Amino acid sequence: MEPRTSFPPPLLTALAQAQHVAVLTGAGISAESGIPTFRDAQTGLWARYDPQELATPWALRQNPGLVWSWYEWRRSLVRQAKPNPGHRALVELESLVPRFTLITQNVDGLHQAAGSHNVIELHGNIMRTRCADCGRPVTSWDPPPEGQAPACPHCRGVLRPDVVFFGEPLPTDALERALEAATQCEVMLVVGTSAVVEPAASLPRYALQAGATVVEVNPQETPLSPLVHYRLAEPAGRVLPALVRALKEHLAQLRGGR
Ligand code: OAD
Repeated sequence: MEPRTSFPPPLLTALAQAQHVAVLTGAGISAESGIPTFRDAQTGLWARYDPQELATPWALRQNPGLVWSWYEWRRSLVRQAKPNPGHRALVELESLVPRFTLITQNVDGLHQAAGSHNVIELHGNIMRTRCADCGRPVTSWDPPPEGQAPACPHCRGVLRPDVVFFGEPLPTDALERALEAATQCEVMLVVGTSAVVEPAASLPRYALQAGATVVEVNPQETPLSPLVHYRLAEPAGRVLPALVRALKEHLAQLRGGR
């Protein structure tokens, strides 16, 4: 498929005039970097496990070794992954608008690796580790016996990734900043998320209620699709660079007085 070259002019005008652009990203933006999404069909080693059953406090208590191994596998994918053109387009977008907030549900750090500055991590970061019992951040530990999770060097509790599991609250500060951005932005791009996991899924709805123009970038429809102003139904790595290119041309035309 040829990359898209044209976008609705009112969308480019809204982006060009916005004082504050917010972006909400999900696993779909990192799919083109080789990191599997949560709800698309899983392949490979862990295909028989449902991520939604592994990323829970309950699973950690029942089978810490299994949960640790699954996250070790995801960490190995993240270590190999590089930002893709979708991540890089958002870095460029940040440089083009007066205020920019990037809210991500991803725990892979690829937005920061690409060079984005104002990033809010709603679900934590997979490269950080903390103790599930004493809560302290931990940076080194003795290798665990095969199939087990390592023990906390402070209290011998179970170590876990510093990510939000299903059923756990989000970091308060991150959620507050995300809510502020959602209700203050004039344009929100919603990229590569199935828009079903709360509270992140409600952020675009708050933006809509506050009068923002909301744009969804996702090859598949989501529960949000009927509500948004524009749907760009293509992979983020293809459509975001094209959108940023079109915005730059639009801004150049405005500056040239045409
Ligand atoms: P999902 O796996 O639920 O959804 C990924 C979305 O990305 C789907 O709607 C795909 O259609 C879309 N997608 C796939 N490839 C794409 C591409 N190249 N470009 C654009 N979109 C693409 O992932 P999330 O919505 O991020 O939470 O999931 C939300 C949360 O649920 C995750 O942060 C995680 C998960 O369980 C926790 O672990 C707490």
